[in-house]
Amino acid sequence: MAEVFFSRSDYQRIADFLKERLGWIPAVGIILGSGLNPVAEELEKEASVPYREIPGFPVPSVAGHEGLLSVGRISGSPVLVLQGRPHYYEGYSIQEVTLPVKVLQIAGVKVLIVTNAAGALNPSFKVGDLMLITDHINLPGMAGLNPLRGPNDESLGPRFVNMVNAYDPRLRSLAQKAAKKAGIELHEGIYILVAGPSYETPAEVRFLRLIGGDAVGMSTVPEVIAARHGGLKVLGISGISNVIPLQPGEKGPDHQEVLEAGKKIVPKLRALLRHLIPMIYEMGV
Ligand code: HPA
Repeated sequence: MAEVFFSRSDYQRIADFLKERLGWIPAVGIILGSGLNPVAEELEKEASVPYREIPGFPVPSVAGHEGLLSVGRISGSPVLVLQGRPHYYEGYSIQEVTLPVKVLQIAGVKVLIVTNAAGALNPSFKVGDLMLITDHINLPGMAGLNPLRGPNDESLGPRFVNMVNAYDPRLRSLAQKAAKKAGIELHEGIYILVAGPSYETPAEVRFLRLIGGDAVGMSTVPEVIAARHGGLKVLGISGISNVIPLQPGEKGPDHQEVLEAGKKIVPKLRALLRHLIPMIYEMGV
């Protein structure tokens, strides 16, 4: 089957729909990952639209992904919140996975905060910890699965995207300051993308550690590439949902465990955002 590539007008149509339905689009957007949807309770909500009512918007099918787009304020500062994301493993194309980010770009979002639930590769991480993503390894991307593959519209971004400092150093330093204010420990590390949906074998876990990963997950990286293509500033935060086995015979992760861990991660992420969002506006978006 021929691959489908979206054009600027596809993104524009959805952006126009959102502006019409919501009335306004904040400059800061947040994508909430698996089990992290309740972070949206931090938002003083002004308007919402379910993904299924947005024409052409991919609707997540997995538990823990609400499928709701809202605008409102966190600590008085404007934020757009996406509760849930589509994944490649659900059968969506990599272009569909990144469609929401390109829509946000066209709609005027300037800063994107991406969150996810991730398995710990770093042995010092515990379930419920937060990790600031400093860099990533795009394993499926290096093997050809990149959201920017296909025709490039220069009005959306350059053909070849620089991924040095993809996770904005100023936003990262701001996030550490916000974490300090909130009294939260914020690890730093490298996120490795795997396509999923099967979890890693112990041999794969040893490999991922060997190549320098601190956390592993099935999302986020394509969104970050699409955002950097569009010139958005990006901040990435992983919530550690499980520690993963190195030896055969040890118990592996399951999705219920990942969602349960959300209960530990959510209050920390809420406290972090409460401090961080106004600081981002003070810095200038
Ligand atoms: N592996 C891959 N993706 C994940 C994991 C994991 O252990 N936990 C949450 N997402």
